[in-house]
Amino acid sequence: MRHHFFVCTNRRAAHVPKPSCGGNGSEEVLFALREERERRGLSVDIFLTATGCLGRCAGSGTAIVVYPDGVWYVGVTVADVPELVEQHMVAGMVVERLLDSQIR
Ligand code: FES
Repeated sequence: MRHHFFVCTNRRAAHVPKPSCGGNGSEEVLFALREERERRGLSVDIFLTATGCLGRCAGSGTAIVVYPDGVWYVGVTVADVPELVEQHMVAGMVVERLLDSQIR
C-alpha cells in the first residue's frame, strides 16, 4: 500500500446547522475516487476508506486525510477527483490548492 485515503462521509441530520461532508456530496467523491482507482489498476497500491467526521467540516466539499503522508485536504469535490488521482495517487505529489490551510 502506497497511500491510504480516508474520505469523510459523515452526514448530519437536516436540522443540525453545522455543515457536513456527507451533505456536501462526499459519497459521490468517494465513488468517483474508487472508480478512477479501479480504472487505473491502482487497487493494490491505493486504499480508500469512508470515515466519520474528521473534524475539518467546511461549508462545501469533502475532507480527506492521506496516510502515511499526513496530508489533509478540504473542500474536495467530484470535479477535483481527476487531479487528485493523477497528482497524488499516481505521481505521489500533493495537490497544493486543496490542502487544509489550517493543518500544515
Ligand atoms: S463532517 Fe466531514 S470533517 Fe466533519
